[in-house]
Amino acid sequence: MKKLINLISEEVTKTFVSAGYDEKYGKVTLSNRPDLCEFQCNGAMAAAKEYKCAPFMISDKVAALLESDEMFESVESVKPGFLNIKMDTAFLAKYMNDMKDDEGRYGLEKAKKPLTIVVDYGGPNVAKPLHVGHLRSAVIGESVKRIAKFMGHNVIGDVHLGDWGLQMGLIITELRERKPDLVYFDESYTGEYPKEAPFTISELEDIYPTASGKSKSDESFKEAALLATKELQGGRRGYQALLSHIMNVSVTDLKRNYENLNVHFELWKGESDAQPYVPEMVEMMKEKGFAHMSEGALVVDVKEDTDTKEIPPCIILKSDGASLYSTTDLATLVMRMKENNPDRVIYLADARQSMHFIQVFRCARKTGIVPDTTELVHIGFGTMNGKDGKPFKTRDGGVMRLEYLLKEIDDEMLNKIKENQKEKENLNIDEAEAEQTAKTVALAAVKYGDLSNQASKDYIFDIDRFTSFEGNTGPYILYTIVRIKSILSKYEAKGGDISALKDAIMPAVNAGQKNLMLSLAKFNATIESAYEESAPHKICAYIYELANAFNGFYHDTKILSEENEELKKSYISLLVLTKEILEACIDMLGFSAPDRM
Ligand code: ARG
Repeated sequence: MKKLINLISEEVTKTFVSAGYDEKYGKVTLSNRPDLCEFQCNGAMAAAKEYKCAPFMISDKVAALLESDEMFESVESVKPGFLNIKMDTAFLAKYMNDMKDDEGRYGLEKAKKPLTIVVDYGGPNVAKPLHVGHLRSAVIGESVKRIAKFMGHNVIGDVHLGDWGLQMGLIITELRERKPDLVYFDESYTGEYPKEAPFTISELEDIYPTASGKSKSDESFKEAALLATKELQGGRRGYQALLSHIMNVSVTDLKRNYENLNVHFELWKGESDAQPYVPEMVEMMKEKGFAHMSEGALVVDVKEDTDTKEIPPCIILKSDGASLYSTTDLATLVMRMKENNPDRVIYLADARQSMHFIQVFRCARKTGIVPDTTELVHIGFGTMNGKDGKPFKTRDGGVMRLEYLLKEIDDEMLNKIKENQKEKENLNIDEAEAEQTAKTVALAAVKYGDLSNQASKDYIFDIDRFTSFEGNTGPYILYTIVRIKSILSKYEAKGGDISALKDAIMPAVNAGQKNLMLSLAKFNATIESAYEESAPHKICAYIYELANAFNGFYHDTKILSEENEELKKSYISLLVLTKEILEACIDMLGFSAPDRM
């Protein structure tokens, strides 16, 4: 379906042309004076210069021609030369019915040419618990992925585990100090290794920080860890077996954590999967003359003449021959081109990593790893701060584990739901349902709190505000959906059939209803621009507007007690559409609504 704004623009443009003016003046935008009109066209102001007359002469002429147009309720020419436009209510009602008929697309056309898009997000590091620093990548990445999928693209999410490098050597070394007798450390051992891991997830989570601390103060420990890393990468059997235990235990735990966040990855690849591609890639860079030695390291120059700031060379190998973060990301691109051949790769990583991605992207293009037809995008997100404006910490100043943070919000939500229930005695929610609902609402609170901000900006993680049932929050959106669900189930309980409402939506009977329809009509344009700009916050702003529009309508209109059956059906049908659109939107944001709360 065409976007409403385009339909209007086309109509007005046609009229400019038939009045003898150039088509470029017919562009229509949303009104910036909603108190006066719904849409506006300012083309006459610009046209006046070309046609050397007063702008209102042009707008008068166009308005007169549009007066009888069935698309509009009114088109007013206002001095000095604006066109103030209001939609015809019957036209709008038809647009609503068409949206509803449009099989789950609600007027949004699928991409004509589906792209293959890899979304690299999550980025947790093996053996380290997820902390709040990982929240944004997971939440924004999941939404960016879902939006692109809804647009009809072939989207592959890859968690891109941090599973390579010194951290593995650190863990092995610390484990060796704790349990030196384990068979994994016996170099003469040639038998099979045990299936059971020699540690639990909580041990593992203690081992890593201990080891990391020791390596900073204890030189010999660090050397042992470096050696272990090298031996591991060189293929030492016992260490390889330990690595797979570390991976299994850690990945199981990560999966559980991401599951709780309603975040799902198509691929569970890691940095280590890219390592086999490194030697050949390095050879190619040397052979083709892209890489050269600089201060002992192998580098590729990536600066360009038009740079306004210094872009240092991309380091491919350190002086000791070891690969780095950039090497891994480049080799991962080699792998992705081979395995997925994507049209676009989107990376969700902290904005502070932007230089890294500039270097990697330029190097990948220069060396031909990625062709011109593949787009590389880094979505750099800002920091999640506490109420004090500093990076979010626990009460005692430590790094907050994601699991604990979510638990805190779940508990807070459970209290609210119980309180709410006391107010409405008829709401008989049992403990199990209350807990499940609390989780659902808490997740919406956290995700909406994050996603409603432009990704690149820092934001304040304010639990009190995020969990409020009022204002621009996730719970408010869910509350609105729950309210609609409850009206619909009452309608059904009285014998109404919500599946038999084809073309039931009639012209709006009041301003609130028309406003709701205008808001619903923006669905296709909103999702398209959220996709084009990888901007979930646009969907949040939209559903907030939509929820407000619905609540305005609900406030002004008696729905279930309406005596005119046709009118009641029209309302119910509009409610169904509103609910479905809100649900489609929150699904793209990565959360869902309960049936009651
Ligand atoms: N593991 C990295 C970190 O914790 C993030 C990875 C981002 N993705 C990438 N392909 N570099 O900072």
